[in-house]
Amino acid sequence: MAIEKTYSMIKPDGVRNGHIGEIVNRFERAGLKVECMELGMVSLEQAKANYAEHEGKPFYEGLIKYITSGPVVKMVISGEGAVAKCRSLMGATNPAVAAPGTIRGDFGLVMDENVIHGSDSPESAAREIAIFFN
Ligand code: RTP
Ligand code: MG
Repeated sequence: MAIEKTYSMIKPDGVRNGHIGEIVNRFERAGLKVECMELGMVSLEQAKANYAEHEGKPFYEGLIKYITSGPVVKMVISGEGAVAKCRSLMGATNPAVAAPGTIRGDFGLVMDENVIHGSDSPESAAREIAIFFN
């Protein structure tokens, strides 16, 4: 393992439902560091770039509409194995099957609004950090 950076984003439902503090607390308790953090909207351009791999899939249009629908918290997180660690703290994509104790398992209800995003590889992380932070 090595010190990595990952991109994580508290999605509109996570912000709306008041989970910012708890999520940041879980990252910090796990030994990860918040390097950059910004509350704000995702532009249409950023949404399309971030989710380019899903273009054309049945859920794509809804995903873009949702992620641009309200304020999010954009973060760069760093630490030992940060990419995998973040994903494991997040839990499975579908909150209905995400394990209790994970962010999605504890705060999510449905696949379309699943509280948090996290990069799925170091390569995705570098690409996504560049989309959201200069
Ligand atoms: P994310 O990119 O948001 O961190 O989520 P993920 O890696 O766990 O899942 P991914 O496959 O990248 O999908 C991106 C988001 O699209 C929605 N989705 N819906 N209905 C479906 O089959 C479906 N599949 C994916 C989810 O909201 C997921 O977070
Ligand atoms: Mg993904």
